[in-house]
Amino acid sequence: MALPFTRILQPCLRLFPPELAHDVSLWALRYGLYQKQYKDDHSLLRQNLWGMTFNNPVGMAAGFDKDGAVPDALTNMGFGFVEVGTVTPKPQSGNEKPRVFRLPREHAVINRMGFNNNGHKALLERLQNRNKNSVIGINIGANKLSEDRIEDYIQGIKTLYPVADYFTVNISSPNTPGLRDLQTPGKLNTLLSMIMATRGAMMEAGESWRPILVKLAPDIEDDDLKSTIECLKVNAVDGIIISNTTVSRDGIPDIAIAGQAGGLSGRPLFSLSTRMLAKTYTLIQGQIPLIGVGGIDHEDSALEKIYAGASLIQLYTGLIYQGPNLIHRIKRKIIRTMQDNNYNSISEMVGLKADIWAKNKEF
Ligand code: FNR
Repeated sequence: MALPFTRILQPCLRLFPPELAHDVSLWALRYGLYQKQYKDDHSLLRQNLWGMTFNNPVGMAAGFDKDGAVPDALTNMGFGFVEVGTVTPKPQSGNEKPRVFRLPREHAVINRMGFNNNGHKALLERLQNRNKNSVIGINIGANKLSEDRIEDYIQGIKTLYPVADYFTVNISSPNTPGLRDLQTPGKLNTLLSMIMATRGAMMEAGESWRPILVKLAPDIEDDDLKSTIECLKVNAVDGIIISNTTVSRDGIPDIAIAGQAGGLSGRPLFSLSTRMLAKTYTLIQGQIPLIGVGGIDHEDSALEKIYAGASLIQLYTGLIYQGPNLIHRIKRKIIRTMQDNNYNSISEMVGLKADIWAKNKEF
């Protein structure tokens, strides 16, 4: 019989160092020691995007299940989709430990994991052996010591194509030196045109179409954002994820921890990432579905991401501080809001407050 993970294990996890707590969570999920959601999601939460059905809009963000160890357990726990990775062609161990730091007062985390993962081949084997009953995105990146980073992304598409429902091109991690340079339009254009050509070749070889999404950093300046989004439009990417962790330390008074290198996630990231989401929504005028991620740790902040322009949302740090019950609170809030306003589909809420958010509203 499964132990109620939420009630017994979850409160103990914060007594462990962060990375150990993460490993224990993965272990508990692997061995079924979590609270399963047996009920089907409410039909109001269902959306069809990119030709796929998402039973609910709440996804597990990349970085938690880097090696695709527990996607089905995460789905059973209530997520509507799971993004595994970031995965690189060769296995790599990442940066030296300690490399994850909690900021409990701020409900935040700083991490500099550095794409620790078991590589493409191991992920392929794992995902080939799972029951395909949920949406799995694969977040791809480049090895730290790669001589040809673009080729690493191409390899990711080629190798993992049969087991991905969608791909996320991660060019926004602050923990692989130089990776974020790929966000500059010139390099991004080269990368994306090669990725799109690779997908075309896969389809010519008989595979079906897979959406290609791009995940951006929240630290892009407004002028640069315009040209980056233009480049994504020109290359016809299918979705944009906003955002990855930030290198800024605004709102972090604890200088000792703020001084740790790495990406900041959680509550202090919320406004920054939601503003960029809204700005992007207005730039693309609803033409490309957006996934909103960054600082969701309450049902109200989840709803606000949708109002700012997100068709789907993802979370990671909120789960550390609030536990898996957050997923259900968010779903309940969305259903209640839809019923109260007579909305028949989530799309009717998407972007309703994009203008306000894009004009620098503080949450
Ligand atoms: C991450 N994130 C991340 N993102 C990504 O694209 N690839 C990755 O490998 C990782 N790894 C990772 C590790 C850890 C420990 C954390 C906390 C985060 C970023 C994550 O997917 C998300 O974009 C940000 O954390 C912002 O969302 P939250 O955490 O504020 O909900």
